Amino acid sequence: MASLPLAYLDQGNGMPVVLLHGFPLDRRLWTHQRALGARYRLVLPDLRGFGQTPVAPGDEAGVPMDRYARDVGDLLDDLGLERVVLGGLSMGGYVAMACWRRFPERISAMVLFDTKSAADAPETRANREPMATKALTEGAASLVEGQLPGLLTRRTLAEHPEVVSAVSRMIAESAPRGIAGASRGMAARPDSTPLLATIAVPTLLLVGAEDAISPLAEMRAMAEAIPGARLAVIPGAAHLTPLEAPEAVNQALGGFLGAVQV
Ligand code: MLT
Repeated sequence: MASLPLAYLDQGNGMPVVLLHGFPLDRRLWTHQRALGARYRLVLPDLRGFGQTPVAPGDEAGVPMDRYARDVGDLLDDLGLERVVLGGLSMGGYVAMACWRRFPERISAMVLFDTKSAADAPETRANREPMATKALTEGAASLVEGQLPGLLTRRTLAEHPEVVSAVSRMIAESAPRGIAGASRGMAARPDSTPLLATIAVPTLLLVGAEDAISPLAEMRAMAEAIPGARLAVIPGAAHLTPLEAPEAVNQALGGFLGAVQV
């Protein structure tokens, strides 16, 4: 599978913080975290097949999380970044864990948003292939309606049309082959739970109190398995905490980053 330069936003100065978006989204997930660019160098990539990064030939057959991690490593090389704070939401968290497996010496701290260390449960895995096929045959926009209820709280869906339309736009603008590749790649990803005890850098976990995709109980268990990790529970948010509760997320993230030494 070919290497691919990632599209990215690089903003601000100071300690580099790289944030990886979830599925099937892009770097616009971090729109509100760009305020942290006043104090840190924020690097926000689009993973392959999402946002402004194209898909490579064959990606639709399945992109392993390690392939996304290699793309991130190549981006760090291109930017001359030796060591970064690495964060990721959901699939971005799976990729962040793959980065830890691949180049832990380049990671000075980790931020895991609304994610899981376990491999797919059988029923989740069974849904991946129909989703890949639907994206390929009916287009990315056909996924919007089915995705929204898992990503956002009922309150956000009813009262925040600007968030609903921002998320819908990201999904609809993702490349169908990128969605298929990510779905199939996530279905095949390994269990990263044994990795957690090896995460020997400061780690913050954030989870929306109403997240049903990456439930609080699972994230609490992850926090207990990572030495010294902290868990922040974000009220009024489901899976997309950075968009649903930006102030609470920025406060938790800003407080954590303020204490990190590169
Ligand atoms: C995500 O937000 O990245 C997805 O919910 C991840 C998944 O489907 O496992």
